[in-house]
Amino acid sequence: MSDEDVRKGLAGIVADYTAVSKVNPDSNSLLYRGYPVQELAASKSFEEVALLLWTGELPTDEELAAFESFERANRALDVNVRAAIDLLPLDCHPMDVARTAVSVLGANHPLAEDSSPEAEVEKAKSLFAQFPAVVAYDQRRRRSLSMVEPRADLDYSQNFLWMSFGEEAAPEVVDAFRVSMVLYAEHSFNASTFTARVITSTLSDLHSAVTGAIGALKGPLHGGANEAVMHTFDEIGIRKEESREEAAARAKAWMEDALAAKKKVMGFGHRVYKHGDSRVPTMKGALDKMIAHFDRPEMLGLYDGLEQAMDEAKAIKPNLDYPAGPTYHLMGFDTDMFTPIFIASRITGWTAHIMEQRASNALIRPLSAYNGVPERHLA
Ligand code: COA
Repeated sequence: MSDEDVRKGLAGIVADYTAVSKVNPDSNSLLYRGYPVQELAASKSFEEVALLLWTGELPTDEELAAFESFERANRALDVNVRAAIDLLPLDCHPMDVARTAVSVLGANHPLAEDSSPEAEVEKAKSLFAQFPAVVAYDQRRRRSLSMVEPRADLDYSQNFLWMSFGEEAAPEVVDAFRVSMVLYAEHSFNASTFTARVITSTLSDLHSAVTGAIGALKGPLHGGANEAVMHTFDEIGIRKEESREEAAARAKAWMEDALAAKKKVMGFGHRVYKHGDSRVPTMKGALDKMIAHFDRPEMLGLYDGLEQAMDEAKAIKPNLDYPAGPTYHLMGFDTDMFTPIFIASRITGWTAHIMEQRASNALIRPLSAYNGVPERHLA
């Protein structure tokens, strides 16, 4: 086996077909079941996008109404999940809480071992409905606040924010949150989705596959990047009293130092997109609205300063995590809740891929090239 046969990181390998989404780095586009994600983000609810990803088509009014009423009826934090979360330390990472919660939900689901297509859709819908309460409760317990019960008169995004903060969010905030949910929902064979497919390929169950995917998403080279972006902002220093220009100048100087020290700056670069991430303009639009809504021009200064300095030095473009991190920060979320929020969205894409993998399964098992010590024998 030659070195050329070894594709570290599986770079450039086409591992299977998928009809769920298409990432086209040349035209800088992302399609969910054929629809450009920007069009979906402009006018569709996250609930509609979830059904599109699972079924392949946008729902009829009746289908959407039925799913919305299911989702509203299944939002309360599961008692077993609450008990399990309460056993976890307050200083563990919220991704550990999320991973544990999904595992507990799986162990308690009546269809846990049923992997028929009908059961898979049912379990995906349950996870979609149940997961926001996990994120909201975890953030509140870390803030020494009591749990907020869900409200069935609110839609998914309104209720997510309600359970997290105990007050109704402004329509602009709800809309920016919805946009982020739509944009984070699906992105072909990224590391966590591929993890979910690998687990499914052994004929394991849906909750096991999602639990494993959460482990993959936790890493800073993948989902954890949206948190890391905020750590960068914090390191530079967020100064509310500062002008946009002053903040931009400090951010530029920080980036020049970081690149001179050969640091990887989170929120920039992408394995697939080399000329910019197709989701960034839409998410940046949502961030701009949050900056205007909360009157925080200095955040725009930090954002622009880093982006410009990176572009000038290395021509590396931001990825979705770059505008998403400061957006969630402005909404009031704690930084280490950003990746669990990403899970709430990506549950849709993961479960769509789990169903697709199961419908046309082949065990995923690559080869390796041995480079250890040559054969030897016990004396
Ligand atoms: N900051 C600084 N330099 C970066 C960079 C970043 N965020 N991303 C890539 N580069 C540089 C690398 O240092 C390398 O430079 P070199 O050729 O001088 O060594 C070059 O660009 C190629 O990078 P590489 O890591 O090989 O690209 P990749 O396709 O394997 O990696 C990522 C893609 C996403 C892992 C990488 O861009 C990264 O680590 N980004 C930060 C994490 C992040 O935001 N992840 C979220 C992805 S949605």
